[in-house]
Amino acid sequence: MRIRHPLTIGAGVAAVLALTTAALAEPDSGSGHPPRDSLRALAAKIGLRVGTAVIPFDLNNANYAQILGDQFSTVTPGNEMKWQVVEPTQGVLDFSGGDRLVAFAEAHRQRVRGHTVLWHNQLPTWLTSGVANGTISNDQLRDLVHQYITDEVTHFKGEIWQWDVANEFFANSFDSAPPLPDGISSGDFWVSHLGEGIIADAFRWAHAADPRALLFYNDFNIAGEDGTNAKSDAVYAWVKQQLADGVPIDGIGDEGHLDTQFGFPTQMTQDLQRYASLGLKVAITEADVRTFVRDTATQAPTNPLAAYAQAYEYSQMLKACLAVRQCISFTVWGFGDADSWIPGTFKGEGYADIYDVNLNPKPAYFNLQQDLTLAAFGAPNRTR
Ligand code: XIL
Repeated sequence: MRIRHPLTIGAGVAAVLALTTAALAEPDSGSGHPPRDSLRALAAKIGLRVGTAVIPFDLNNANYAQILGDQFSTVTPGNEMKWQVVEPTQGVLDFSGGDRLVAFAEAHRQRVRGHTVLWHNQLPTWLTSGVANGTISNDQLRDLVHQYITDEVTHFKGEIWQWDVANEFFANSFDSAPPLPDGISSGDFWVSHLGEGIIADAFRWAHAADPRALLFYNDFNIAGEDGTNAKSDAVYAWVKQQLADGVPIDGIGDEGHLDTQFGFPTQMTQDLQRYASLGLKVAITEADVRTFVRDTATQAPTNPLAAYAQAYEYSQMLKACLAVRQCISFTVWGFGDADSWIPGTFKGEGYADIYDVNLNPKPAYFNLQQDLTLAAFGAPNRTR
């Protein structure tokens, strides 16, 4: 057990520290043995990892930390490895949020999905305004991103299982900028300044910094969720070409942000299998299923039937992953409705997670548990 970066946090995290200390002193105790019917224990039987995004602040809540350690075998920082959080002031790198999560993961025998290195969103203001006002030239921008990728991936070297190296580069039907011929968005911040080759460079730089991490391309609506499968077709053709060009890409992450109003995307298994057939790993990286709710406090669905649809879509999404041998992890984008990103981003929607606002498991949780039980043990043989 190794905690590289000592925790420098206040009294509020006593519970977490107690768990951490217990795990350090006695590796086989406490959360070292998650409940046998937990998602992580059931999934472990078939070599799958079940993960969640985490807001490190929530680790202060003992109930939250207990569920996190018991149920999940991978964690992803919701925001703490994004450039905006890591380098809010140019030249001053702050990895403390990510370090804290890595320490929790090590103490609870979890792996970490690093998220995310190159994305158009959540960039530091000094960077975007410097580019906008011309004080950062494109050549300098290229050097800055090379340096940043090297610094970040090196800092977490050996501690990250999968890195989302490039995030959300493909065009959507609702974009204002047109797609490039291969489907990448011409309006993407990185592509418009540095050309689409910056994506391949990001993978090369990340690989140089941590050759053992699995490097993922991550995006939403790339397993048929757009209805037409056009985005999936584009990513498939692109990644096939990248592999032919020797770009070190190990996997494709489908975010899996679903909405009950659109129904379940029927192509998901085939699309995941198609990426896998290229020799890639695949993963569901940010699963949630939102629906319209009465208010953000209770997040009770406006239509009672939506609760069933929500649980159904979670189950279908997990089954798509289970059906594909190369699908190595199924990660939900936070597990409790209280800290879901959905109400703040999709007006009027919520109820997207597998635990409710009070951290009680919802029907979706029990669906996942049942699916994993069947995957792990099969259906019990009939007795006559
Ligand atoms: C979201 C976080 O959950 C929010 O807290 C933040 O304000 C915005 O970003 N796709 C991604 C994630 O790849 O990084 C996003 O996370 C959700 C959409």
